Amino acid sequence: MEEADRIREILDYYRGQRDRSEQSTAVEMLRELQEVRGFLTPELKKAAAETAGVSEKLIDILVRRYPTLRESAIEHEILACTGERCGNRQGAELLGALRKEFGIGKDGLSSDGRVLLRTRCCLKRCRTAVNMDIDGTAYRGLTPESGLKLVKEICGKRKA
Ligand code: FES
Repeated sequence: MEEADRIREILDYYRGQRDRSEQSTAVEMLRELQEVRGFLTPELKKAAAETAGVSEKLIDILVRRYPTLRESAIEHEILACTGERCGNRQGAELLGALRKEFGIGKDGLSSDGRVLLRTRCCLKRCRTAVNMDIDGTAYRGLTPESGLKLVKEICGKRKA
């Protein structure tokens, strides 16, 4: 079924529910809508508010309150060093391999939107180059091979 059809089906179902404006029902609807795209877009939140007959502000409050509801598809954040010392130890090769593997665009996002790759000119740990942070954890002494393997293990790839 097409994404748009699935969304329409979910909205139609909840529109027919008597308790559609109750918090638990609205959260259930948001969860189902999120499953379609992986996260809640502004359009999905607006449609959910209209369907539930509640304000968009209330939907925003619910999204913030329930950790399982997400407005962003980003699941992992990588901070790669582009400094000279890391660069001299194949840091650029590792960065290139990551960009290729995850289809990183100019905005730093992977093709599936789940991984955000950012760069910094020096992570101030030059002695242990190549350095990289993944989800806030520091990794040191990476090679293009070990770095790529590590990122694949941690961030994985969504199956098409
Ligand atoms: S150059 Fe990479 S940590 Fe300084």
